[in-house]
Amino acid sequence: MTAETAYHGEMGRQFALQATGSAYNAHTDRPAMLRLAGDVSGLRVLDLGCGAGHYAAELLSLRAGQVVGVEGSETLLQAAQERLADRAVLHHHDLEEPLAFLKDQSFDLALMALVYHHINARAQLLAEVRRVLRPGGTLLVSTTHPTSDWTYFGGSYFADERVELPFGDGFALSYWRMTLEKFLGELLGAGFVLEELAEPRATQQARLVDPRRYDKTHRQPHFLAVKLRRP
Ligand SMILES: C[S@@+](CC[C@H](N)C(=O)[O-])C[C@H]1O[C@@H](n2cnc3c(N)ncnc32)[C@H](O)[C@@H]1O
Repeated sequence: MTAETAYHGEMGRQFALQATGSAYNAHTDRPAMLRLAGDVSGLRVLDLGCGAGHYAAELLSLRAGQVVGVEGSETLLQAAQERLADRAVLHHHDLEEPLAFLKDQSFDLALMALVYHHINARAQLLAEVRRVLRPGGTLLVSTTHPTSDWTYFGGSYFADERVELPFGDGFALSYWRMTLEKFLGELLGAGFVLEELAEPRATQQARLVDPRRYDKTHRQPHFLAVKLRRP
């Protein structure tokens, strides 16, 4: 397996810690995506790139019927296992490969929180998500905001390239910087229908955790989140 963009080892440990209480993950991305999810009670949920299981834990506390997590990093999968015990089914898998172990139309809701931009084989992944979602099911995707990448990396807004963003203590996140047109175009091109788009701002709780980042997300969008329907 070559899950090169999965957060292995110490990088995974640092991400797991950060995702627990950080202004960006815990208080900006997660609340926005969970709001987009709406009422999840009883739903069969697929969490792609589930990381340390923070989403899965929240979805279960919101009474999701069943959560299946897929993750390429053994370190993060282990953290998810510890967080969730036997309350979710977890798979170690590279999202560059088809989801052959999942049955057709077996989920009501799929989510990819801050994962999509890491993947090369995005058309294949979307086709697989479409296959495993039931008709009328929901797909939620969050990603880095194109203008945030543009501000940070500079150059042309229209650059379509892999970039490396410093992360944690000496690590780097490798992902695709893409325009809004490309991001949405890929999702709509895969046959999904856009229902809502959000540019999340940090919640009030983030003010206590990290006032600088709280202010920043209220001046400049950091993430983008979309809710789509599988026809
Ligand atoms: C920013 S983290 C988000 C984790 C989780 N969705 C959350 O929001 O807490 C990105 C996740 O995608 C996973 N990932 C990246 N590339 C992957 C791949 N090719 N296959 C499986 N997982 C991958 C990473 O290991 C990491 O857990």
